[in-house]
Amino acid sequence: MRELKILAVVVFFTLVTYYGVEPLAHSQMHPHVDAPDYEFKDVDGLGGLKGNAEAGATLVQSNCTACHSSTSQGFSQLMDNATAAASFGNVVPPDLSSAGKIYNPDYLAAFIKNPAKAGKVEHKFEDGAVHPMPGYAWMQPQEIADMVAYLQSIAPKEMTNKEVFSDACQRCHGIKYADMQKGTMAAKTPDANITAYMGKLPPDLSQYIRSRSESYLHEFINDPQKHLEGTAMPRVGLTKAAEDQVVTYMEEVGDSKKAQREALGPKFLIYLVIFSIFAWLWKASKWRDIH
Ligand code: HEC
Ligand code: HEC
Repeated sequence: MRELKILAVVVFFTLVTYYGVEPLAHSQMHPHVDAPDYEFKDVDGLGGLKGNAEAGATLVQSNCTACHSSTSQGFSQLMDNATAAASFGNVVPPDLSSAGKIYNPDYLAAFIKNPAKAGKVEHKFEDGAVHPMPGYAWMQPQEIADMVAYLQSIAPKEMTNKEVFSDACQRCHGIKYADMQKGTMAAKTPDANITAYMGKLPPDLSQYIRSRSESYLHEFINDPQKHLEGTAMPRVGLTKAAEDQVVTYMEEVGDSKKAQREALGPKFLIYLVIFSIFAWLWKASKWRDIH
């Protein structure tokens, strides 16, 4: 009876300590936030309009190609990243070839109309500072829908995880551990420029898959303000599929042994069970003579 009481006390304090260290501390450090919204219901999007890709082609050529390239469509800036960053507000404008695939169409329409608002970074552009991309809210809603339809029509059907990461994140972030795989994955915008634009240097993303949970990364990309209120990182309005590819890429680079590590778990448990059986048999054989 006495042993049982001692056991109960030990179990009680172990559980209290566990609760304090794990669920309680975790909930304090990472407050619960709403799940990502991949429909971008809050934005001023397409409003249900269907676009005409042909009309959109002309509109994109005349409004967007002064700053943006599209390597797949053969219009390109012919400038290196340092010059592009210096010319367009301290950040390299992304290539638009894949925009119609990786961004949610309503978010894309909202971003074209008002980039700071769609990205939830209006707080950065208060005292007369202007966003490096002009808004096109003066255009007809139908024209915006046409441009979105055009961008969708030129987008590739399939993209690798690395390509999605590159188009969505690499103008600001490097992921240098990927250099070990092939080619450099340094940020496209030079450090000094992006620091001037963002107010701080966006971190290298090589190890974020380990220091943050996967759900945190999804919530953060979908709406950084939820976790870091007032942050300079704009919301990146990726579709769920594109966001999954980004996070998978971060895992491929930062935690490439995850599958092997997880496969080892069950094997180790089986080993422990077999070992316990032997240990028990051995103990039984020793005590048999004593009793
Ligand atoms: C004066 C230069 C300029 C023009 C003109 C311009 N953009 Fe941009 N655009 C930028 C810059 C710079 C960025 C990067 C902004 C940032 O990272 O905060 C950007 C970002 C984007 C993005 C990325 C959105 C995201 O969430 O990451 C898309 C899509 C885009 N532009 C589409 C367009 C389209 C479509 C047009 C034409 C209607 C256009 N842009 C015209 C400079 C321009
Ligand atoms: C226009 C530039 C820009 C783009 C595009 C951008 N980021 Fe960021 N990101 C930043 C800045 C600036 C910070 C630092 C934020 C801070 O500390 O307030 C940051 C921080 C982060 C962090 C750290 C969050 C934390 O908890 O500390 C992660 C993770 C991240 N970004 C992921 C991404 C991913 C993934 C993408 C592409 C889908 C992306 N970012 C696109 C500018 C950008």
